[in-house]
Amino acid sequence: MGMVRTAPQAPGALPLLGHGLALRRDPLAFMMSLPAHGDLVQIRVGPVRALVVCDPGLVQRVLTDDRTFDKGGLLIERVREGLGNGLGTCPHGDHRRQRRLTQPAFHAQRIPAYAEVMTREAARAVDGWTHGRDIDVLPVMQEIAARTTMATMFADTPGTDTTAVLESFNVFSHGIYQRMLLPHPLDRLPLPANRRYDQARAHLHKAIGAIIADHRARGVQGADLLSMLLTTSENGQRLTDDEIADQVMSFFFGGIETVAATLAWALHEIARHPQVEQRLHAEVDAVLPAGAPATFDLLPRLAYTGRIVTEILRLYPPGWLLTRITTTPTDLDGYPIAKGATVVCSPYLIHHHPDLHPDPERFDPDRWMGQSATGRNGLLIPFGGGARKCIADTFGVTEATLALATITARWRLTHTPGTDVTPALVNPRGLHMRPTTREPTRTRTM
Ligand code: HEM
Repeated sequence: MGMVRTAPQAPGALPLLGHGLALRRDPLAFMMSLPAHGDLVQIRVGPVRALVVCDPGLVQRVLTDDRTFDKGGLLIERVREGLGNGLGTCPHGDHRRQRRLTQPAFHAQRIPAYAEVMTREAARAVDGWTHGRDIDVLPVMQEIAARTTMATMFADTPGTDTTAVLESFNVFSHGIYQRMLLPHPLDRLPLPANRRYDQARAHLHKAIGAIIADHRARGVQGADLLSMLLTTSENGQRLTDDEIADQVMSFFFGGIETVAATLAWALHEIARHPQVEQRLHAEVDAVLPAGAPATFDLLPRLAYTGRIVTEILRLYPPGWLLTRITTTPTDLDGYPIAKGATVVCSPYLIHHHPDLHPDPERFDPDRWMGQSATGRNGLLIPFGGGARKCIADTFGVTEATLALATITARWRLTHTPGTDVTPALVNPRGLHMRPTTREPTRTRTM
């Protein structure tokens, strides 16, 4: 009888919790410790075993074979409980249909109209700033992203209290990660954290139900995703309100934290790198007349701003943990893998690999001279890959680039003295910055 090869195990598993505690305390450091043990490393979260894929070629294989490596596994299961069966969470069997229904909303021809909303929302945010008055950066960026997502995807939602929805959304998304690492029975204990999570989830569902009802009642026939979903039919059958609500949740969840974290980290790194700041200011001053907001037609001339966005997506990929579940027995790198195994890929790990990105911790936008964040080389995977690749990759990059240019054309941001940024996963919590009005630079260098 031949020996069956098993992937090496990560050291430090605790009884019961396994590596759950390490993933709670310092998830990114834990991830980064894994490649030292192999291209494929076993970890344990509570009773669940998972295989972490550390090699970029193997990651590509997992992401592009979505029939074998289906959406599932510890993270997605928990996300599904909260978000339902929308585009981001549904299994392979439902995915082609759901993607076909939603893809037209992301057609290249739609982006210029969305860009008008992106510009408007970024401009609205910076208009409200006061010279010398500190801002808490992450919530401000979340507000820009939430308003943009809501206006582009769900048209006007006059009755929605965006701030309240955002608060619930934050409690909810934080809760999903915590739950992933804890045994299921703990969900049902009457703990304050569970109550807060349940309330936030109920509030989000109610708000989304109201958005859908309002759309129907007013007969909105816009070019937004929600109008499309409400009017589409397949074989004479309309989507049910529950199906539509699941989609809205998926897009809400996908579109806010990702863009907000990208913008917040960008402002943080720019303030820490005076030479980058200088080049960025020179570019926005040359391209945007007298601090005017950035518009879609100017994007080709905002190349340096775009490179900053790409480099931020490398250093701080918002989707840092992607989980899959095997639908049949398979193998990876010669290791047999049973059906139903959880497989984990981490763009963060690939993006910080010193063989792939020399001096990986250095913030250097010029790495991306002539390349794009949505490219296909497998070394830069902030949007994942294969059939489950982010549906809004171009949308997200466009939004981040326009917002960053709009902000920095008007304001210079420096860290508030004493500010202490703690990366809470890949969100910069506690990032407080002080905007000061800018005098445009006179040089037209880039
Ligand atoms: C910088 C911005 C963004 C980043 C880094 C990002 C990242 C990602 C990643 C990594 C995935 C794949 C997840 C997986 O393979 O498990 C994904 C999927 C997805 N994203 Fe994004 N995203 C961004 C912006 C957005 C925006 C703005 C929206 C909505 C307006 C959005 C909606 C979605 C949806 C619906 C999916 C699921 C796609 C599918 O399974 O077919 N994302 N995103």
